[in-house]
Amino acid sequence: MKIGVLTGGGDCPGLNAVIRAVVRKSDNYDSRVVGIRNGWKGLVDIAYTDLDTKMVSGILHIGGTIIGTSRTNPFKDPGGPDKVLKNFRLLGLDALVAIGGEDTLGAASKLFERGLPVVGVPKTIDNDLSGTDFTFGFDTAVSIATDAIDRIHTTAESHNRVMVVEVMGRNAGWIATFSGIAGGAHAILIPEKPIDVDEVCDLILRRHSRGKNFSIVVVAEGAKFAEKPGESGQLIVQETKTDEFGHVRLGGISQVLAKEIEKRTTFESRYVVLGHIQRGGSPTAHDRVLATRFGVFATEMAHRNEFGKMAALQGKEIVPVPLAEATAQSKTVNMGIFHIAEEFFG
Ligand code: F6P
Repeated sequence: MKIGVLTGGGDCPGLNAVIRAVVRKSDNYDSRVVGIRNGWKGLVDIAYTDLDTKMVSGILHIGGTIIGTSRTNPFKDPGGPDKVLKNFRLLGLDALVAIGGEDTLGAASKLFERGLPVVGVPKTIDNDLSGTDFTFGFDTAVSIATDAIDRIHTTAESHNRVMVVEVMGRNAGWIATFSGIAGGAHAILIPEKPIDVDEVCDLILRRHSRGKNFSIVVVAEGAKFAEKPGESGQLIVQETKTDEFGHVRLGGISQVLAKEIEKRTTFESRYVVLGHIQRGGSPTAHDRVLATRFGVFATEMAHRNEFGKMAALQGKEIVPVPLAEATAQSKTVNMGIFHIAEEFFG
């Protein structure tokens, strides 16, 4: 069997661990693996590299992806899907392992309907893909954000400041919720719950009236204001230009929020945007194990001709889940866990 593997969308710690697992497991089957360069772009333009066990040696712990990634949407151009199918055949491939989030796997699902024998692996630091309890990369992002909040704690306390920490999370506040709980945040703001600035200020004022002189607010970049500042219900964006999947570039909500908190409470406030630091560097041990399990399972699925599905984590088991089901809608934060976080607000 000849298997193609591609990584699409934003990079994520653990991508190389999946690639290594696909190559090593394929080698045990006597199958060959081709790395498609830069996500779907490599199948539209034909850009690839042969992968063997030597090439994936020493990459388990390395962040990023050795085959590159892009936000190319093969459905953007009407001829794109046919190009992908034609080039897949031209490369002599029997199966494709697509490692990505809802955009990459959404395209995989539609290409499967057109006859592409594809298996998915769920990737995103945002953990917003349905059908799987966790995506790989999320644990690393939460660890990085928690470490940052720990550091923010000491400087916030020294200066008697309110610190607003902005983390990633376009549709869902998983990173904000988990790192906020782990880092002991005094308020956590997520896309699932519109921000009431007065409520946030009340929490801070209540805390300071108890003798505390600093507060930490964690906000997901995709959170929206229920009222002014900013147009109500609007995302705070860096750029209104969209990528090929229709996403604007988010960022800046912490700055708006810190200014407003300072105005309404009179407490000196600062903001920090963690940005791509959350996506860079070495994956945690948890993500290396999860990525490896996904890679091995996806390769087994390809050899069983079990296409149109994604390797998913449900409970402690890796199971196949239809791509159409996984990409139908974003997985938002479970309010049970958010209510736990709320117990510690203020
Ligand atoms: O992969 C998802 C994500 O991490 C979002 O949370 C964020 O908005 C986006 O990537 C930013 O990615 P980039 O700057 O690479 O487009």
